[in-house]
Amino acid sequence: AKITFITSDNEKIELEATSGSVMQLAVDNGVQGIDGDCGGVCSCATCHVHVLPEHVSKTGTASEIEQDMLELDDNVSEYSRLCCQLDVSDALDGVVLQVAK
Ligand code: FES
Repeated sequence: AKITFITSDNEKIELEATSGSVMQLAVDNGVQGIDGDCGGVCSCATCHVHVLPEHVSKTGTASEIEQDMLELDDNVSEYSRLCCQLDVSDALDGVVLQVAK
């Protein structure tokens, strides 16, 4: 699947992957602003992204645990996701994720 990140500097980073989490993909490729401090267990929110509104159908919505974590973040929006909770799959192909500040 092709996954595009837009960093807070408005840099566009297009990546390809077939498996793993979106957070791991971002970290492996040095996407600025995605730290993945907790290793992907939904407890740090350093992998916060905003899904482009028209792409929410690709990602689905956040689980309750994820939602709770997101609410601790000042920049939360209705399009917020923790990208360690997004698994790379064909369903995500073409998704654009804005890295949260
Ligand atoms: Fe920590 Fe996603 S990497 S919540």
